[in-house]
Amino acid sequence: MKIGIIVGTRPEIIKMAPVILECKKRGIAYFIIHSNQHYSEEMDSIFFKELELPAPDYNLGVGSGLHSNQTGNILIEMEPILLQEKPDIVLVQGDTNTVLAGTLAASKLGIKVGHIEAGLRSYDPSMPEENNRILTDHMSEYLFAVGPNQHAILVKEGIDSDKIFTVGNTVSDSLFKHLDISASTSTILADLAVTSGEFFLVTAHRAANVDIPANLLELLALFDKLHAKYSQTMVWPIHPRSQAKLTELAIELPSYLKLIPPLGYLDFIQLLKHAQLILTDSGGIQEEACLLGVPCITLRENTERPESIEVGANILVGRDANKALAAAEKWLAKDAADFTWGNPFGDGHVAETILDIITNSVPCTLDAEII
Ligand code: UD1
Ligand code: UDP
Repeated sequence: MKIGIIVGTRPEIIKMAPVILECKKRGIAYFIIHSNQHYSEEMDSIFFKELELPAPDYNLGVGSGLHSNQTGNILIEMEPILLQEKPDIVLVQGDTNTVLAGTLAASKLGIKVGHIEAGLRSYDPSMPEENNRILTDHMSEYLFAVGPNQHAILVKEGIDSDKIFTVGNTVSDSLFKHLDISASTSTILADLAVTSGEFFLVTAHRAANVDIPANLLELLALFDKLHAKYSQTMVWPIHPRSQAKLTELAIELPSYLKLIPPLGYLDFIQLLKHAQLILTDSGGIQEEACLLGVPCITLRENTERPESIEVGANILVGRDANKALAAAEKWLAKDAADFTWGNPFGDGHVAETILDIITNSVPCTLDAEII
């Protein structure tokens, strides 16, 4: 059995890490292809280091670019590697351009694809990620759905239920594994001079929020209104996409917004755990906030993670300041002890389940040759 593991961006590295480490632990043959869609040290190599991952076997070095350039370059670079390595299965995680290109390259060569985090849908076709998810799911042979909602979505779209495995989200593996480690090693709260439970944590990088100047300004106005009411410091580890836009537009930010470079995982999850509330448009952070019992306000009109809303952990506000004020009021009227809800995202052993399924059911060409 040989597994090809594809990663490209920060969340893919974090969510694929448990699968890579489990392959290593079980002595399964695997290789890692990194598209290098993310390449800045704080978006890329810091996670290999902190999560104790082996260096990628192949780095495609594609970097940033327009969608079709990025996707096309990954596709071109990936094919000869897959032809040479001949994996029994290729694993992709999530919904990025790397995921779509990796899936396309493998499936055109007749290599089976396992899609981790299958079946998520925002039903917002203007999101590039939504197209990536749908296409990837429909080209995959093994669909690792997070929960029953995703299973039902995939069946409704006509995917054979024999291909779908409901396993949870590997984000739970990474988060639960690193919480104690980060608590004992991270000094981020002291470094930023913030007190547990007395700051808001902000992240925003969706194209729809940060690329269009009017939308970015609307988001900043929302932060202003929240600050006018609650006078809370807001810590914003800023994604390079959003930083580039702020720089391009020469926007000066108010001092209550503590802008810092993107953080490593150990620092970030400490900040998340100790935030009074989180304002985000990230997918993974909606999940982590829910798992950590931190109230979340999602700066989007829709989410492909409705479970966090269903369990009462998340409120969607888009860029509407009045909705954000109402959501904050709701959260801040409660005690921290009230922030307990169900866990829809996994038990911290999801990678083990995925590898049990793969090793039990993926036909192995190496074994076949031996027989
Ligand atoms: C990508 C994914 C998105 C995911 C996000 C995780 C797609 C279509 N989008 O969005 O689904 O949520 O990653 O963070 O695949 N940049 C750097 N250094 C880097 C990476 C990016 O400076 O290491 C800057 C560049 O200016 C680049 C911009 O960020 O143009 C956007 O990067 P890109 O990978 O295209 O999209 P993300 O917004 O990161
Ligand atoms: N994250 C991090 N440092 C940061 C911001 C986020 O380590 O400064 C982690 C976060 O804990 C989560 C993942 O990055 O696991 C989310 O990535 P992102 O928001 O970029 O992508 P998305 O999940 O929206 O695709």
